[in-house]
Amino acid sequence: MSIAVITGASSGMGEEFARRLVAEKDGFPGAPFDEIWLIARSEEKLRLLAEELGGNRYRALPLDLTSPSDISRLSDILEEEKPQVGLLINCAGMGKLGAFASHSKQDVHTMVTLNCTALSEVTHMFLPYMISYGDTLSAKGGPRIINIASSAGFLPQPDFALYAATKSFVISLSRALHVEVKPHHISVTCVCPGPVDTNFVKVSKSDPNARITGFKAKFVTTVDKLIPASLRAAKKGKRMLVFGFGQKMLHLASKILPTNLILYFEKDMK
Ligand SMILES: NC(=O)c1ccc[n+]([C@@H]2O[C@H](COP(=O)([O-])OP(=O)(O)OC[C@H]3O[C@@H](n4cnc5c(N)ncnc54)[C@H](OP(=O)(O)O)[C@@H]3O)[C@@H](O)[C@H]2O)c1
Repeated sequence: MSIAVITGASSGMGEEFARRLVAEKDGFPGAPFDEIWLIARSEEKLRLLAEELGGNRYRALPLDLTSPSDISRLSDILEEEKPQVGLLINCAGMGKLGAFASHSKQDVHTMVTLNCTALSEVTHMFLPYMISYGDTLSAKGGPRIINIASSAGFLPQPDFALYAATKSFVISLSRALHVEVKPHHISVTCVCPGPVDTNFVKVSKSDPNARITGFKAKFVTTVDKLIPASLRAAKKGKRMLVFGFGQKMLHLASKILPTNLILYFEKDMK
């Protein structure tokens, strides 16, 4: 059985990836996939999405990826099914705005566990199935991993410090893993968007009506632009997609300017 897997599939980018994969006929190994596994906590949202998109091809897996027992459940399902994994998309993530000291203990734990630990554990558990599949395929047509990081990961970000640090982790892991798994014809594409119009901002500001405001509002993009570009980058086996002109400039600045100087200007960019 060939599968694609999407974490964070109940909303935002993950949901858009799920919608785009309906039409995916041959861009990834195993496509059109026998099953597309949709992972997030919201059972009802996943069930409705799976029904809307195509019934039994979409498997809703309501799991909390910060829960060790749910991670074990996913591992059990994987061992039982032994699928050929053509595409893994790590989208589940969250961030909280504000000074590090102001975060609750729970938010600190969740940000690190979801953005770093869960992404690592999920990738680690799926990799053996991707490696064995990739070894049977050509270099160009091997399995793909898409990790959603963020341009926040390019630099330290006061008032978004922990989130930015977790995304630096995702960028670093993705880039090294891309090299490690290349001999198995697998590529890891690390996607680094700036602000995207999803539920993320509502969670980050703990406000269901929150919107992206201030300097960041100038750079907002939408999932219907970002997700097709991410899929194209993954098909080409690109190791990184920095999405949008503003984010590309930030990426360049993070490489050539002293970090202290950028931190000085960041004060005025909120
Ligand atoms: N939006 C932005 O401005 C932006 C910019 C750069 C990068 N990103 C990154 O993009 C990724 C997708 O975010 P988004 O913008 O699409 O936000 P979103 O709409 O809030 O989606 C987050 C997804 O993660 C899932 N999730 C949250 N906690 C989970 C848990 N404990 N276990 C399993 N799933 C969980 C959510 O589903 P449930 O609530 O149902 O669990 C939801 O499906 C994240 O990694 C985020 O850091 C976002």
